[in-house]
Amino acid sequence: MPAASFIRGSLEDQAAAQPLHAAGTPLRQIAAALGWSYGRASEAVRAIRGLPSDNELRQARRGKTAPEVVPEAPKAEPAAEGKRKPIRISKVATRSVDVPRGVVSRLILTAAQDDTPVHEGFWRNLTAYAAHLDAQLAVGGFTYQLGLFEDHAVATGVYAAELQPYLEFGRVQLGPDLLIVGDANILPTTANPLAGWHTVNGGGHVVIPHARRALETIPRMPGRPPRYVQSTGCCTLPSYTPRASGRRALFHHTYGALLIEIDVDGEVFIRELAAEDDGSFQDLTARVDSGVVTYGHAVAALVCGDDHQAAMDPNIALATWGIDVRTNRQVTSDCLIDLLRPAHQVRHDVLDFRRRNHHDRGSVHSRARMLAAGTTNVEEEVHAAAAFLVATSRPWCQTHQVESNHDDALTRWLRDLKAAEDEENAYYHAELNAAWLRAIRRRDDTFNPIRHAMGAVGGYDNVVDFVGYGRGLRIAGVECGLHGDIGISGSRGSPNQFRRLGDKVVSAHTHSPKIVEGVYVAGVSASLSQGYNDRGPGAWANGHVVIYPSGKRALLCMHPDGRAWAEARGQEGVSLAA
Ligand SMILES: [Fe+2]
Ligand SMILES: [Fe+2]
Repeated sequence: MPAASFIRGSLEDQAAAQPLHAAGTPLRQIAAALGWSYGRASEAVRAIRGLPSDNELRQARRGKTAPEVVPEAPKAEPAAEGKRKPIRISKVATRSVDVPRGVVSRLILTAAQDDTPVHEGFWRNLTAYAAHLDAQLAVGGFTYQLGLFEDHAVATGVYAAELQPYLEFGRVQLGPDLLIVGDANILPTTANPLAGWHTVNGGGHVVIPHARRALETIPRMPGRPPRYVQSTGCCTLPSYTPRASGRRALFHHTYGALLIEIDVDGEVFIRELAAEDDGSFQDLTARVDSGVVTYGHAVAALVCGDDHQAAMDPNIALATWGIDVRTNRQVTSDCLIDLLRPAHQVRHDVLDFRRRNHHDRGSVHSRARMLAAGTTNVEEEVHAAAAFLVATSRPWCQTHQVESNHDDALTRWLRDLKAAEDEENAYYHAELNAAWLRAIRRRDDTFNPIRHAMGAVGGYDNVVDFVGYGRGLRIAGVECGLHGDIGISGSRGSPNQFRRLGDKVVSAHTHSPKIVEGVYVAGVSASLSQGYNDRGPGAWANGHVVIYPSGKRALLCMHPDGRAWAEARGQEGVSLAA
């Protein structure tokens, strides 16, 4: 029989393809194994899955027949006689899932490309961790390389067999705050998978299945809790066309998933599970390797959101360092740094310098407010910031202070000789400038006025590594010495600029947690409302970045009450950071 005369999707073809399909064999391999064309293999598998054939879909588009279309798949738009039209959609159904209050619900969500094998090690570890946490496991799909006239719904793709029980192709509203856009079907070669999806949940959390990792903070009105739009990473092997877009996408292909926790009060916490090449991954101090979950693993670093000590949020300080900001004393070890025990902690914008910041030291109203509050002395603020850094250090953890623009406001103040006319602070201005000018006279280029001023506080020089502008700080292969205020060649810094370094970077400064390509951005530990920032919508949020020894990272986005994950840890017998 001539090869071209087969009946598309015939019972014989289905019987031949069935064992291979059941074993999760990709379509191209089925075609190669049976000596068929890709189209014939596709037809056989579509018939096995009860989907309409390509021919039926084509006829439907021409108005000749009305095939049975699978639920959730978009319907072909009626077309003029003889004219083919691409499939279009006019509405999308959203399935609402109630989340029970009073218990912690967990979901691990990843993504898969159609017709592509699974990373077996990662998949094994994901299923093991889901079982360990009693979390539901779900996989969102995306299709690749379909033609204009093919059905682009994720539901009509063919996915690896082991994923079948976990596939979620729909748009799911999980409780009031979280929307999983399982039908997004964004090409894996798309540079920014989040573009255009920020508003799809009316300001609530949005999660998109995609082969890349990305996260942005959704703008909101003052007083409302932070919400994020983010993508998942995937569990399938890279499979791209050998063209420029495919080759670029290969570089950014990310094995990953999101662990979504919904706390007893309905608050949503999401953090990244980032797999290493062998599919193992770390989640806080837990590691999942070869299908086995173990605890007590080291954390390389905690890169904290900007301190701004004078405006430090008491809830975030207590949750992060167990410290009472009123007394500067540690009152509990049930806090992030003692649970994670990172080898390094990296601190940004430690000094706020609000008492004589260049933005408003010329403002009579601002100075009057400082006077009324009794917060006019610069030396006091500098020493309080240094004392806070010392009080939040730990003997087993190297504390690094990354020189930042708010620290640098002290330097700007010293350069401004008019600032010496300030009778309250003239003595301090003169003292620090005298030390600085003496260093210049003895040609000491290492003198830094910020380090010098903060070093006057007992313990500072022993526990703090001051990372000046341009020095750099590498931890587990990740550059941590960039605050974020200074960009390339002295320009204004931004996370989008840093991704051009082609290096892993964790920065801060924007106060808005973000992931863009190799750049992670921590949030802020200070109050989300600081007067100058709450006159309109904003995107500030509390959050730190965890770096594991492998160099993989996770963003711990925090609720303003201090929670970084669902708090009811002990209630289920599973302690995430035990
Ligand atoms: Fe800052
Ligand atoms: Fe900053």
